[in-house]
Amino acid sequence: MMEQYQVKAAKGLQGVIDVPGDKSISHRAIMLSCLANEPVVIKNFLFSKNCLSTIECFRKLGIVISYSKDSGTVWVAGNGLNGLQEPDDILEAGNSGTTIKLMTGILACQDFFSVITGANDIRQQPVPQIIDPLTKMGAKLYCRAKNRKIPIAVLPVSQLRGADFITDVDSAQVKSTILLAGLYALGPTRVTELHRSRDHTERMLESFGVDIAVNGLTVTLYPPEKLIAPAEIFVPGDISSAAYWIVAASIIPNSCITLTNVGINSTRTGVIDVLRQMGARIEMKNQRFFGHEEVADITVSTAPLHSVVIQKEQISQLIDEIPVLVVAALFAEGTTCIDGVYELHVKDPDRLSTVAGELTKLGAKLIVNEDSFIIEGPQQLVYAVCDSRYDHRIAMAMAIAGLASKGTKIHEAECVQNAYPLFFNHLEKLSV
Ligand code: S3P
Repeated sequence: MMEQYQVKAAKGLQGVIDVPGDKSISHRAIMLSCLANEPVVIKNFLFSKNCLSTIECFRKLGIVISYSKDSGTVWVAGNGLNGLQEPDDILEAGNSGTTIKLMTGILACQDFFSVITGANDIRQQPVPQIIDPLTKMGAKLYCRAKNRKIPIAVLPVSQLRGADFITDVDSAQVKSTILLAGLYALGPTRVTELHRSRDHTERMLESFGVDIAVNGLTVTLYPPEKLIAPAEIFVPGDISSAAYWIVAASIIPNSCITLTNVGINSTRTGVIDVLRQMGARIEMKNQRFFGHEEVADITVSTAPLHSVVIQKEQISQLIDEIPVLVVAALFAEGTTCIDGVYELHVKDPDRLSTVAGELTKLGAKLIVNEDSFIIEGPQQLVYAVCDSRYDHRIAMAMAIAGLASKGTKIHEAECVQNAYPLFFNHLEKLSV
């Protein structure tokens, strides 16, 4: 696999691609299938390194999982809610923050000991956001740096208590960790968010027959006796992956592309709302449901973009798309402000400073404050070498910046394997 990738300026983007399966939904499909009693077939699964980490963790917990990358299919033979076995080694989440957090929610209520860890970067991320609520539910979790950083050691417990939480961060990972622990709790578990984060866990739990009530920003989970698996789960295409092409086709002249089977869950389409507000030409067709998730085919063509103001309340619906939206803003007329992005400082690595630093190498001028970006556009970028810092979203955003200007060479480009292994193949397929 390449360590660096040379991006050439594109004269336009043309063609049709099926973006890969959604990362968040792929993780959740594995997790719940492993806790169900009936076998589940998962189709259009995302075979990225991060999602494979979740599979490997469950294999170590005794679940039989097989897959065929060629057909995009995973077969899971779950053993029921109480069918996991004590692992005889440390569980490795690699670079996947979703694996670390959501798995801890499940491990927290088992009657066996386990330890979960991850790669360098995510070992630096603070985890009290999950440790504190799980401990309040009765879990016994210990980690380093005064209980702030992974690895996490999980002691056996016989039962958790349901509890009522009001989160002070907008994080689907935190909400989902609490809800998964709630599967095993005595009494209902309730989470109230400040702003709505992605709701794939709630939808996936519903499709496994769990009684979940959503009332505004509050989700209540009533612990089930068992999970009733759907025979098959079809994972929609990942809108976060589609976002790179939607931005690229908007800002590169002579472009018209179609992305098929893209998930358009309303907690994820913030990026489309913002780009449309900026003047992007985005058409959705063939809207339909895959289980509890809505999908569509999306056609995008070049359009003159103008600036936009993105407010704090919108961030949880487009958290992963900020790097590529910053690129869009560099090509848009006027001053774009993106507010409320402090959470990106605690991503792996500090995504706020990294995206600004790498774009600066290409000649971009942007103002980064503690909690916001200000970008004056349009700007002319130059060719330069940049570094992903092993963050796939930085690598892909830099590729789009280079594609739309004078090209770029990206170091540590292989990190796209974590989330979108076919990214550079698709780049070559669409570029003319
Ligand atoms: C995710 C939630 C988001 C997102 C991450 C995946 C999930 O993280 O950035 O890529 O699958 O729940 P936060 O919960 O930290 O916002």
